[in-house]
Amino acid sequence: MKWKGDKIEFEVYGTSHAPEIGVTAKGLPEVAFDAAGLSAFMDRRRAKKAAYSTARMEGDIPEISFSEDELRAVIKNGDVKSSDYNELYGIPRPSHADYAAHLMDGRLDFSGGGEFSGRLTAPLCVLGYMAKSYLSKKGIRVSAWVSEVGRVKGATYRNGLTEEMLSAGEKGEWSPLRKGEMLEEITRAAAEKDSVGGRIECAVTGYPGGIGGGLFGSLEGKISSLLYLIPAIKGVEFGAGFDLANMRGSEANDPLRVEGGKVAFIKNDAGGINGGISNGNDITLAVAVRPTPSIARKQQSIDLVKRENVEIEIKGRHDACIVPRAVPVVEAAVAIALADALLKEEK
Ligand SMILES: Cc1cc2nc3c(=O)[nH]c(=O)nc-3n(C[C@H](O)[C@H](O)[C@H](O)COP(=O)(O)O)c2cc1C
Repeated sequence: MKWKGDKIEFEVYGTSHAPEIGVTAKGLPEVAFDAAGLSAFMDRRRAKKAAYSTARMEGDIPEISFSEDELRAVIKNGDVKSSDYNELYGIPRPSHADYAAHLMDGRLDFSGGGEFSGRLTAPLCVLGYMAKSYLSKKGIRVSAWVSEVGRVKGATYRNGLTEEMLSAGEKGEWSPLRKGEMLEEITRAAAEKDSVGGRIECAVTGYPGGIGGGLFGSLEGKISSLLYLIPAIKGVEFGAGFDLANMRGSEANDPLRVEGGKVAFIKNDAGGINGGISNGNDITLAVAVRPTPSIARKQQSIDLVKRENVEIEIKGRHDACIVPRAVPVVEAAVAIALADALLKEEK
């Protein structure tokens, strides 16, 4: 898996049940490496002993080395239990990557989700932390939070961006509003051998205007290409996003004003980007996270070896809701994209 930006390029390697996973990267900005800060950031993605979280416990402590201009981060996979998948040999889990991966390379062993596992987002967080640190030195803040879980709707930038939303992650919280009800929604789904999805929002303050470009230079394109690397993300929108489809131009447009000699926008339904270029307004975006595909409930699938229909009950250790753990990963993806676009402008 390789991503190539204008300045930053990186490759994530490994699989969920391999001895290790990791990332190699070039073109990263030079930042003073803060081990405690990185550890706190990685901790936000780590599985916790919580209702929504897998029982798989990983330390997620990266070993980081630099040689010339290349960074290498290695994370050991400690808590591997492939036996959970023995009964599922040749049987794809509905809506996981199993069947699509079988079509790609003929595989029948779907242990741990292979390279499609959410585990592979840990190395992305290492790079994301570096990108966030670089942006932060320039007064740019990248903040994400859970805004919806199942049918519970919490804080959204659509009602105005607040400090609670921006600081939730820094305080180690995943949602600034209605977290209790969200947890109940997850617990209810898990008790019914089911899973729930949700919506993560992200806001970027302090990002300069004029960064990005038309066509292949699009900032929305660059950000989205990294957000879609995150497994389980099935939708991305900027500003008012899909609601823009039902608005009139007079409602959707963000009027411009001069206030105290400075240009300001009256509102921000474009999400801070026009024509693929940042317009100086806050960048706001949201992602839709699907319910975890691996559910314990009985489901229909097929046995690819015997070519017959089967009913499966997935054992294994799975998050009943991926949404809280994906929050720092969204910050990481957005920060890498925005750092790359900014580095391109630096001489
Ligand atoms: C942090 C994180 C943890 C995940 N944990 C699980 C899990 O425990 N069980 C599962 O079936 N899927 C899990 N996923 C989602 C699957 O990896 C994903 O749905 C699958 O690869 C198919 O990709 P798609 O949903 O993007 O199409 C997780 C995703 C993330 C980001």
